[in-house]
Amino acid sequence: MEWSKEERYRRLEDASAEEISELKARVDSCPWRQSYHIQPVTGLLNDPNGFSYYNGEYHLFYQWFPLGPVHGLKYWYHVRSKDLVHWEDVGIGIKPDSNFDNYGAYSGSAIEHEGKLYLIYTGNTRDEEWRRHPKQCLAVMDPQGNITKVNNPVISEVPEGYTEHFRDPKVWKEQDKFYTVIGAQRENETGTAVFYSSEDLMKWNFQGELVTKLQDFGFMWECPDYFQLQDKGVFIFSPQGLEPQGDNYRNIYQSGYVLGDKLDLKHRRLSHGEFHELDRGFDFYAPQTMEDTEGRRILVGWMGMGEVEYPTDKNGWAHCLTLPRELSIENGRLIQKPIKELESLRKKEYIVEDEACDEIKAYDELKGITYELIGEFKNHDAEEFGIEFRASEEERTVIKYDALQKKLILDRSSSGEEFGSEYGSVRACDFQGDTIKLQLFVDVSSVEIFINDGQEVFTSRIFPKKNSRDIRIFATKGRTSFNMVKWDY
Ligand code: FRU
Repeated sequence: MEWSKEERYRRLEDASAEEISELKARVDSCPWRQSYHIQPVTGLLNDPNGFSYYNGEYHLFYQWFPLGPVHGLKYWYHVRSKDLVHWEDVGIGIKPDSNFDNYGAYSGSAIEHEGKLYLIYTGNTRDEEWRRHPKQCLAVMDPQGNITKVNNPVISEVPEGYTEHFRDPKVWKEQDKFYTVIGAQRENETGTAVFYSSEDLMKWNFQGELVTKLQDFGFMWECPDYFQLQDKGVFIFSPQGLEPQGDNYRNIYQSGYVLGDKLDLKHRRLSHGEFHELDRGFDFYAPQTMEDTEGRRILVGWMGMGEVEYPTDKNGWAHCLTLPRELSIENGRLIQKPIKELESLRKKEYIVEDEACDEIKAYDELKGITYELIGEFKNHDAEEFGIEFRASEEERTVIKYDALQKKLILDRSSSGEEFGSEYGSVRACDFQGDTIKLQLFVDVSSVEIFINDGQEVFTSRIFPKKNSRDIRIFATKGRTSFNMVKWDY
């Protein structure tokens, strides 16, 4: 269905209670509502925003268009949690109802200051010619949870040399000063990030561009995030406009990181290594990180992709967030592990130890729709081996190791209702390892697969039928032994 500009920019208060309850009923009747992921009550969810720990709880906001599965007028929707696993819907966090954000309260971040949580975000405005005029704005949350906007934007102009694509401030504090990186597009239509400093979060000084080796790397960098981890500097961002290269950059838009020395604040220089994608699946974008009170660096991403139609659209909603992942660095690469708190979701445990030789095996105790599964493959000489899950006669999603090509491969060509296949149905990456450990988090319409304790991750939506519940282990042209542990969720 095509949505007109008027329909996309309708406000929540312009919709009648009846319209909203009809939409809600349509959403609730959708067979693909998730069971343990953050998802919107109605409408579209995209980027995680304002991810933080404040006043004894984790806070997370997300980009939200309430009235349908399209990128319309964006609000910040607020959820909170004590354990990063069980989330409570709080309601709207920021409404796009001021003259500096009336075409969308776009993405941003949060930081605690003087006992309050400061939310810094991009206010999207439009002129009569429909040109964007981005403003960087502040809203402040008090310990009671009341959120009040600061009356004027704190950065009202785009600095010279950059276009109207200028958004997504990520704030941090270092040596008593605040800094923010903002995603930007240069006038020559290449992507970059700029940064500002501030003493008090209210008055910001433009410092200049972040100096990296990536001078011509996509046309826009969205959602930048800089932090220190294990004495290194890590810069995460979502560049738009990279051409596919072999197995890399296969989605419409990418997100990844560069890692190197800590940012040299004075010269704004980041000396860094190669760009790596954070996730090898189909549906992952615009991640944001926070540091919690235990010093863990935790990342959450949007489990979705812009410009792709999803099967839930017809039920009036789209997308969810990923599970939180804890980051660390090993051998110059970011490692992403599911946070340990997820173990609290584990219910009944099933264990299977066996081997497969040129065959495909199924087990009565390995079945399900929402579960965690850890499969370890050892002593293998098969050319290919792996797991089929959410499987039936007609449907299956496959994660496998191709030992000849030394590649991990996720295949969703027979996962269920087809979508996004114009961008391919297979994702792969190079991988070496004697033991292959696959940790799957399967929800009603998604899977997140952590490989060998977080060396790679594949995140994807899938839309199988309810009766596609089998889990099968296979080996082709040779054998493998394996050990499967599954917990119902
Ligand atoms: C990334 C993004 C951001 C923007 C937001 C709007 O997905 O395009 O750059 O702030 O979404 O919803």
